[in-house]
Amino acid sequence: MTDDDLIAAARDAARHSYSPYSSFAVGAALRFADGSVVTGTNIENASYGLALCAETVAVTKAMADGVRGGLEAVAVTGPGADAITPCGRCRQVLNELAQLGGTDPEVLCVGLAEVRRMRLSELLPHAFGPASLA
Ligand code: THU
Repeated sequence: MTDDDLIAAARDAARHSYSPYSSFAVGAALRFADGSVVTGTNIENASYGLALCAETVAVTKAMADGVRGGLEAVAVTGPGADAITPCGRCRQVLNELAQLGGTDPEVLCVGLAEVRRMRLSELLPHAFGPASLA
């Protein structure tokens, strides 16, 4: 699973986006140390504030299947030309899974015209996580 494959998986997930209110389809794909990939897409709601982001859906799918670590890379794709970066809430949700497994995943932020790469720790410095409660 190359980075290009991971981006393709995120783009494919975005085909299932339920975003009738924003018309902003987002895809996310998580790659784990064992090679497995879990995807998500944004799911909106008639009560607008209840929208679930693609990254949060992906993390929730993985954790609901028992995954508790090994997060190595994340791809997030948006419909615009510019690279999309995870929203603040999604950074925190991604951080929970990353910290559980002791990884600092690379986040591939993807638009139609560019890909930006950064570590989750760059997106969420001084993060509050599971270790903070110890
Ligand atoms: N969205 C995501 O899925 N991920 C992000 O990181 C940013 C925003 C979604 C939420 C909403 O359905 C749409 O994009 C517009 O904000």
